[in-house]
Amino acid sequence: GAAVEVDISALQPGQKITVEWRGKPVWIVKRTKEQLDELASLDAQLADPDSQRKPAELTPAYARNTWRSIKPEILVAVGICSHLGCSPTDKFVAGAQPSLPSDWKGGFLCPCHGSTFDMAGRVFKNKPAPDNLEVPPHIYLSETKLLIG
Ligand code: FES
Repeated sequence: GAAVEVDISALQPGQKITVEWRGKPVWIVKRTKEQLDELASLDAQLADPDSQRKPAELTPAYARNTWRSIKPEILVAVGICSHLGCSPTDKFVAGAQPSLPSDWKGGFLCPCHGSTFDMAGRVFKNKPAPDNLEVPPHIYLSETKLLIG
């Protein structure tokens, strides 16, 4: 399918928009400074903190960093769980879900079998989902225009 152009000028910190690309939901999340600061502290809890697995399919070279993104604050990820393909829900806020650990820092929760992902789409250890969420190929056409695909 065609590449999708997205204007992110109105996206506020803590917000997410979803666009469709090749029939898949692609999330664009503007992370807060607190959310970014937490990412580096989560490595020991993650299955693949440095996005080493399936790099060609899941994480383009320009996103193989702590934030898994080009601009630190902007996450671009395919919202499809790497287990059996459900779409995880936003759980940006601690305490949003009783079944989550009380020290949950926020991220995404797959409603099907409970896999959890951090704010960079990295999967936590010992969850059914084997891999991080896919970061689709993308570039910035300008400060606020993104081209996905
Ligand atoms: Fe997401 Fe199973 S499909 S945990």
